[in-house]
Amino acid sequence: MIEWTGVRVERAGRKLLDGISLSVGERRVGLIGANGSGKSTLLRTVIGLIRPTAGDIRVDGLDVGRDAVAVRRRVGLLVQNPDAQIVMPTVAEDLALGLRARGIDRAAADARIAAALARLGIADLRERLIHGLSGGEKQLVALAGVLVLEPSRVLFDEPTTMLDLPNRRRVIAAIAALDLPVLIASHDLALLAGFDRVIALDAGRILADGAPAEAIAAYEARHA
Ligand SMILES: Nc1ncnc2c1ncn2[C@@H]1O[C@H](COP(=O)(O)OP(=O)(O)O)[C@@H](O)[C@H]1O
Ligand SMILES: [Mg+2]
Repeated sequence: MIEWTGVRVERAGRKLLDGISLSVGERRVGLIGANGSGKSTLLRTVIGLIRPTAGDIRVDGLDVGRDAVAVRRRVGLLVQNPDAQIVMPTVAEDLALGLRARGIDRAAADARIAAALARLGIADLRERLIHGLSGGEKQLVALAGVLVLEPSRVLFDEPTTMLDLPNRRRVIAAIAALDLPVLIASHDLALLAGFDRVIALDAGRILADGAPAEAIAAYEARHA
């Protein structure tokens, strides 16, 4: 469960989030809203990358402000641009990095990497250079980098925005197959269609919160 209570985020005198109170526990939750509405800010507050000016955020009861390290062990965040997430030259090296940082030994790390790649149907990419991968492959590798750390939930920031149709379909299928709760900020309304719940943001506030069709209709009406 992720809980925001009275969360306000102000930067340079602007309210990026303004009075957000939400509890999210469903397995498939979408976050929509125009550019600048606060989607990325909201996702970043969950793992303490952005600290609220007021209010607090809890993940499974852990206070993010007090215990960000423990929260980051539970929650994976896939940022919008996979190039920002991938740092090593090859897929295997990149996936090993986070595991090494957590003190996982080599053999266990190799096994986890193989499992994460297999789970996403990209075992063949293991020894490839990141540089030569397509956008969709990079997005899947970035997701594998999150999954090897064995989070209990994953946040996605516009996972399909930069992809062409075949890669978009691969990423959507990979997300659909994930046996973890997800919270996905997206403009890709088709991606969110079968979700349990969709939250629409507008200028840092909650515009709508409910079934996908309902939240999408409110978002479309707001920008009609
Ligand atoms: N550090 C910051 N200082 C000032 N404004 C910021 C900062 N970070 C983001 N913003 C602004 O906050 C608003 C919300 O941003 P964001 O959460 O990225 O929205 P979204 O992801 O929905 O496009 C945008 O107008 C953005 O330009
Ligand atoms: Mg954003």
